[in-house]
Amino acid sequence: MTTSGDHRRGGEVPWSAEELSEEIFRGLLSTLEIFNMYVGVRAGLYEALAAHDTLTPDELAEAASIHPRYAREWLEQQAVAGVLEAPDHAQEGQGSDSYHRRFRLPAEHRRVLTSPDDPLYLAAGPLFMLGVAEAVPHLLAAFRTGEGVPYARYGRDTREGIAGLNRPMFRNDLVRSWLRAMPDVLERLAVPGARIVDLGCGVGWSTLAMAEAFPAARITGVDLDPASIEQALGNAAEAGLAEQVEFSCGDAALLESSGAVELVTVFEALHDMADPVAALKTARGLLGPSGAVLIGDEKVEDRFAAPGPELERFNYAFSVLHCLPATRAENARVEAGTVLRADTVAAYAREAGYADCEVLDVDHDLWRFYRLGG
Ligand SMILES: C[S@@+](CC[C@H](N)C(=O)[O-])C[C@H]1O[C@@H](n2cnc3c(N)ncnc32)[C@H](O)[C@@H]1O
Repeated sequence: MTTSGDHRRGGEVPWSAEELSEEIFRGLLSTLEIFNMYVGVRAGLYEALAAHDTLTPDELAEAASIHPRYAREWLEQQAVAGVLEAPDHAQEGQGSDSYHRRFRLPAEHRRVLTSPDDPLYLAAGPLFMLGVAEAVPHLLAAFRTGEGVPYARYGRDTREGIAGLNRPMFRNDLVRSWLRAMPDVLERLAVPGARIVDLGCGVGWSTLAMAEAFPAARITGVDLDPASIEQALGNAAEAGLAEQVEFSCGDAALLESSGAVELVTVFEALHDMADPVAALKTARGLLGPSGAVLIGDEKVEDRFAAPGPELERFNYAFSVLHCLPATRAENARVEAGTVLRADTVAAYAREAGYADCEVLDVDHDLWRFYRLGG
């Protein structure tokens, strides 16, 4: 990001007209390349490349059942963009047959594009982008009427995009880092019969990560979106965890109290809930005497400040296009949007009856973690 406007006072724009124009051009280029990446993900082109050392356009066409002319153009585009290697092209003469050119997905880039549990995996990002783009005409209408855009209207790409972006964090960090900041809870989760409830669980990657880590625990995932729950059930069966985990479709704010749960989790979902205070009250009713709630939500700034850092830009962009309209479609009591600030979470917790709301000492680039109890 160009910041030649450092001398400017807060609230002023950081760019000159030329700099803004350059910034938009860079964004256009990234958007075009992200859309090409979407094709690579959804058409299985990266997977096909990862299964071979190198492929020619004809070989990729054969392996992924696509037309050779598209295979060639896409491979060349990906190599020019720096995603793929074209190892022998420097030795090619004029008029060489471009259908004989070979392309490789380097091992380093396989981590980012074909390894869904790798911390660097980002191939779900393009899915999210296309899913949101599809909903933009509805959003435009909502801007005029004030209505929302239902979560389901964002479709499979958005659902799988969000799930795929968060999955590596659940697989790598949830137990090893986030829950380590709650050592007393961690200990109790190993006790046979311990109960965990995962609110706003999406397609269930967080629920399943906890099920794997705590084989003696019983875990329930709850989400309002039927398509997410259907996918979660499939994911549980595929992971061999269907016996230990149950998924239920419903509103987190309307669950019956049990007073028997050790841990309630809410990952990147509190800001999406139409009535977050009611959901937190429900969570409190679920907890046993020593139970606690763990919330992971966006690591936003403490207060509005413009211009903002990159992560704040990301969260606001996400909010306008997705979180705010999806929440408005649920007749929201409050409308936090993606930018759910720490003092708002603390106020929700107080209103829901918790005596304690602690920001946990967890080092994370994107999320902040809150422990609620008492
Ligand atoms: C950004 S997604 C996060 C999903 C999942 N926790 C993850 O990190 O991949 C937010 C989720 O909250 C769910 N949600 C929104 N309001 C809800 C409510 N009142 N009760 C249960 N789930 C809700 C949505 O359906 C969606 O799956």
